[in-house]
Amino acid sequence: MKLGVNIDHIATLRNARGGVEPNLVEAAKIILKEDILALTMHLREDRRHIKDKDLYDVKSLGAKINLEMAATTEIQKIALDIIPYSVCIVPERRQEVTTEGGLDVYSQKEYLKEFIKPLKEKGILVSMFIDPDIKQVEASRYIGANYIEMHTGSFSIAFEKGDFKHELDKLKSAALHAQKLDLKVNAGHGLNYENVYLMKEISGISELNIGHSIISRSIFVGISQAVKEMLELID
Ligand code: PXP
Repeated sequence: MKLGVNIDHIATLRNARGGVEPNLVEAAKIILKEDILALTMHLREDRRHIKDKDLYDVKSLGAKINLEMAATTEIQKIALDIIPYSVCIVPERRQEVTTEGGLDVYSQKEYLKEFIKPLKEKGILVSMFIDPDIKQVEASRYIGANYIEMHTGSFSIAFEKGDFKHELDKLKSAALHAQKLDLKVNAGHGLNYENVYLMKEISGISELNIGHSIISRSIFVGISQAVKEMLELID
């Protein structure tokens, strides 16, 4: 399993004062020294954390970027200019604190099939952020996505309550089904230093995208140590 580190919350903290600290590019440079796959950045429509310039600045470091984005033409245009390593198509509601629930690929499959074509033509890997639901897995296959990223939010909440078997089983079944359909499988949301070990029980996960817990941990131990500790847990 590889790790994608989501750096949105560094930008959240910076934007709280409207200045330049903490410097996102400096943080990116430090994280890139670790054995990670990519830096994950979510360019939201309201630009509440990552700004357009952040993407260009991080790209100029030669970083592999996994761009989380809503399926809108505005963000698609930016993706086609930046050419990130991968994009992860997410649902987006302005009022939400974070991405709540997976994308309903099934009910907009014809739109999404057309939407991802230009991205794929540029060689960008395309992932769909979905709940671990067979119907959504099959729809992701139908539209031609390369990956699914399973939303682990419900699993993480269940883990806190100490009763997570059912949620973990759903992730296992969805991952198996996806692999039968030749889809690669990523996972993320709410994963932390306590629950991440359970991702090893799911066969064939390529990549975990983790942000909040790593950035939170970095307050105590620094960002390189926080990333190292997570890498040790998923190794
Ligand atoms: N993957 C996706 C698609 C997300 O939207 C997020 C949250 O931005 C994450 C992973 C990371 O979630 P967390 O910050 O809870 O680790």
